[in-house]
Amino acid sequence: MVNQLEHEINRRRTFAIISHPDAGKTTLTEKFLLYGGAITLAGAVKGKKAKHAVSDWMEIEKQRGISVTSSVMQFQYEDYCINILDTPGHQDFSEDTYRTLMAADSAVMVIDASKGVENQTRKLFKVCLLRDIPIFTFINKMDREARNPFDLLEEIEQELGIKTCPINWPIGSGKEFKGVYEREKKRILAFTANNGQREVEAVEADLADPDLEQLIGREHRQALVDDIELLDGAGDAFDLGQVRHGKLSPVFFGSALTNFGVEPFLEDFLKMTTAPLPRHSNLGEVDPFDPDFSAFVFKIQANMNKAHRDRIAFMRICSGKFEKGMEVQHVQGGKKMRLSQPQQMMAQDREIIEEAYAGDIIGVFDPGIFSIGDTVCAPSKKWEFEGIPTFAPEHFSLVRQVDTMKRKQFIKGTSQIAQEGAIQIFQELGGGMEEVIVGVVGTLQFDVLEHRLKNEYNVDIRMEGLPYQYIRWIENEDLDPKTLQLSSDTKRIQDLRGNHLLLFANEWSIRWAQEHNKELRLSEFGRS
Ligand code: G4P
Repeated sequence: MVNQLEHEINRRRTFAIISHPDAGKTTLTEKFLLYGGAITLAGAVKGKKAKHAVSDWMEIEKQRGISVTSSVMQFQYEDYCINILDTPGHQDFSEDTYRTLMAADSAVMVIDASKGVENQTRKLFKVCLLRDIPIFTFINKMDREARNPFDLLEEIEQELGIKTCPINWPIGSGKEFKGVYEREKKRILAFTANNGQREVEAVEADLADPDLEQLIGREHRQALVDDIELLDGAGDAFDLGQVRHGKLSPVFFGSALTNFGVEPFLEDFLKMTTAPLPRHSNLGEVDPFDPDFSAFVFKIQANMNKAHRDRIAFMRICSGKFEKGMEVQHVQGGKKMRLSQPQQMMAQDREIIEEAYAGDIIGVFDPGIFSIGDTVCAPSKKWEFEGIPTFAPEHFSLVRQVDTMKRKQFIKGTSQIAQEGAIQIFQELGGGMEEVIVGVVGTLQFDVLEHRLKNEYNVDIRMEGLPYQYIRWIENEDLDPKTLQLSSDTKRIQDLRGNHLLLFANEWSIRWAQEHNKELRLSEFGRS
């Protein structure tokens, strides 16, 4: 008989939803929650106002009406226990978005059928590839005019470098959207346009069904038969092994807003994706079913309660079971401790929890001891999980304090905010901390920095945008950056750990550096 630990871990599915803003990620998430019974009213999650209730804590987010930090939601569907990791969807997303993907076992990529692969999807996808996690594609908004489905698949394959396998196939789009053909089940789910948020009626019919022509029209029937023949003959066959290793993405067409194709997608996805996967540590792979608890910190959320300047550390449980009040070892800090106020997001609410299992995400009160990537585990174990890479910022500013008497607070504030992972700090080679180069993934983080330094540390700063767009870590450890031949618009800098990096104004300068320094090895990801 399967024991309870195994049963609980086996039924967990932990995934991230990625997309470019406006592709429909929030709408799709909401429909998932509806099916799971976690919310009863469509619109409870979606919509700018309601979004605050779900994931916004920081004042600045409220002012802007956006969600800066990624949030986690847990709900039950059939016998599955699902953890959805939401990634901030607006233009100004942050490094947290990337880190969230480190906590997921798979990713759902939502693509707008009229737009195809967009910039933010591209960036997030690159991070998914780092870990070869399974990627499932939901091509959304088929109820609107869409691009040719073959072109969409080709674009995904070309631009993202992953093979695709459509599980269903659309019949028309926009006003002419008639539904989808489910290839494996060999049946048609017919779409009936409705404007409401109730589930659309699904009529089932076989390809050979004489009523098919009446249902979808003669032209659509012919196009469908031709398309399916082409797909069956020339397309990549479904292969679960390849899906599980992130080499083949199952593709689903649907319309989240009208609820069309969402539940079949959820059901297939839950079957195809994996239960919690083993994680690498310094002592080899850690099996999720190992009864000893272990977790790593992937995100630190500051300022939940301004009065206390407290933080919440979000951890992904990698093995065993967590119980409230249990003693654990904080490996990097070398200390035994009890995790206090463990909590989980259940749709809109945050709840104190009694227990959690491998695959789950918990938030714990952090008195300022955790850093991103830290391991927490049963005291008998000495596991240390592989760190989370540092992702390349894309925007840079020179930052200094206005009042030089506030130097100490400035250093403390910037260092702490950097430790939480909201910004990255760099210095000129051999430079001090009175003036730092701040790098961010999304420019909103500059506002967050300014706001927090003023409000929490009472420091005013002066910020000057720098014209760099690319940063690369120098991988050669024994290379003196001063000896490099670089174009005049390239800057040599270092991070607080003493790693050497280069700042480039454009891609041309990167190529120039590589052509003139044959031994130079550059990386887009920093060691942690
Ligand atoms: P995001 O989280 O990826 O940024 O996207 P979100 O779900 O907020 O959806 C962006 C817009 O696209 C919303 O419209 C939403 O209603 C619409 N949308 C999502 N899925 C579909 C779909 O399947 N079909 C169609 N036709 N539209 C869809 P909005 O007007 O920007 O927001 P709202 O006023 O509806 O909240």
